[in-house]
Amino acid sequence: MNPLDEPGRSARNIDPCILVIFGATGDLTGRKLAPAIYNLGKDGMLPANFACVGFARRDKSNEDFRKELKEDVSEHSRTKPLDETFWNSFQEQVFYHRSEFDSDEGYQALAKLLQQLDTRFSTRGNRVFYLSVQPKFFPLIIEKLKKFGLIYDTGNGEPWSRVIIEKPFGHDLPSATALQNEIQKNLAESQTYRIDHYLGKETVQNILVFRFANSIFESLWNYKHIDHVQITVAEDIGIGTRGAFFEEEGLLRDIVQNHMMQLLTLVAMEPPVSLSAAAIRDEKVKVLQSIRLLTPDDFENHVVRGQYGPGFVNGENAIGYRQEGNVNPESRVETFLALRFYIDNWRWAGTVPFYLRGGKRLPKRTTEIAITFKDAPGVLFQQHMKQNEPNVLALRIQPNEGISMKINCKVPGPSSPLQPVKMDFRYGAYFGESPPEAYERLIWDCILGDSTLFARADEVAASWKIFTPLLEYWAKSAPPFPNYPCGSWGPKEADEMIAKDNRSWRKL
Ligand code: BG6
Repeated sequence: MNPLDEPGRSARNIDPCILVIFGATGDLTGRKLAPAIYNLGKDGMLPANFACVGFARRDKSNEDFRKELKEDVSEHSRTKPLDETFWNSFQEQVFYHRSEFDSDEGYQALAKLLQQLDTRFSTRGNRVFYLSVQPKFFPLIIEKLKKFGLIYDTGNGEPWSRVIIEKPFGHDLPSATALQNEIQKNLAESQTYRIDHYLGKETVQNILVFRFANSIFESLWNYKHIDHVQITVAEDIGIGTRGAFFEEEGLLRDIVQNHMMQLLTLVAMEPPVSLSAAAIRDEKVKVLQSIRLLTPDDFENHVVRGQYGPGFVNGENAIGYRQEGNVNPESRVETFLALRFYIDNWRWAGTVPFYLRGGKRLPKRTTEIAITFKDAPGVLFQQHMKQNEPNVLALRIQPNEGISMKINCKVPGPSSPLQPVKMDFRYGAYFGESPPEAYERLIWDCILGDSTLFARADEVAASWKIFTPLLEYWAKSAPPFPNYPCGSWGPKEADEMIAKDNRSWRKL
């Protein structure tokens, strides 16, 4: 059952369970997972019978761990200040387990601890294992969990065990395939929850609602009426303390192959036959399979990579990527990417460009999908227009979440020039409260056994298939980096790429 079917979040029955976080002393746990679990608990969304175990390699007592989590939650929770009364009782359900990831004794001891917690909290053997660790540990941990009886064969009913796998899932198509082959020896697809936190965002889920719960847009949603689509994921932050990670990943692997392609599939897909996880994911895979594969000849014309140099962002001087910690001073890793894709299917007819633009150290943080419609026939009002403006529907994913529509309007008065105006819907103004964080939604869905908002194996493979030839091509050469200063909208070649089509990037 898909969450979009449900009238209210708390309406569903939720099984008791224990959540085990591998990598519990890591950055993601502190910034995202702990606040998500706290807010789920505070909102009454967790099962009444619940416990959480942090699994990591550092020496720590339960008390140390609880104290650290409390600080993390106080700092990073979307709800502030920390609810001390709730936390004091909630922390009694939180435990720490120290072990190496490859230690048999560590898993034996974990199995024993989980049994004890089952007895104490009536969690009935149900488990979510959250792997927030370096990808090289994914197969090892899953193998050990299986070996020590912590991953059960699937069946209907309890007890159940599920594994959430953080990104990146593979490095390219061969490595993702190899990883999948390893994992599936011990874990069924129905137990595998590959996270892409963009799918947990309210505004991303609303793309399907917007398209398929309204009748006015869908009939226009095709190559006959849409001129082009622009998807932007801009961040003003640099890579911060994640230099070593980013040197391995680069922007393509970090946000394009996963987050941006998720946005693209939701915008481009056909209506699913139902709201089931399988039906939605089937349609997303079909979009990925319909994207025209770039050939080596296309790489220079359809793709622009960039790397930020020193500059000025948010009123402050900022260092270049090559000066960041743990980054090679001659690094060829990209921090910006602009791409043009075509989708060869009936709806898009291979004629509507989908432009993707993503980058670090751009002037602001903003994620947006903009659908530009074709021009109206220029027979009546052309002489009244200050400039020829197409209709643009903008889905603002974050921040200032909302949807706006640019339309042409008559300026009041007798001389009647036309001017574009904006109809604007804002989530905040309409619904008030801050929506749950993506990780809250995704952890909750996993406990419910709903995989709709997680990436399926064939989806991940289809996406890697698109990018692997490009990555191989890039490995051979690089443009002169750095090629854009911090605080700019990327290299000039990105503007030139879209200008060749007589279009321009949206000014955001
Ligand atoms: C993560 C990337 O997956 O997404 C980060 O690793 C990026 O580099 C982040 O900053 C962006 O997420 P959000 O939710 O802030 O848009």
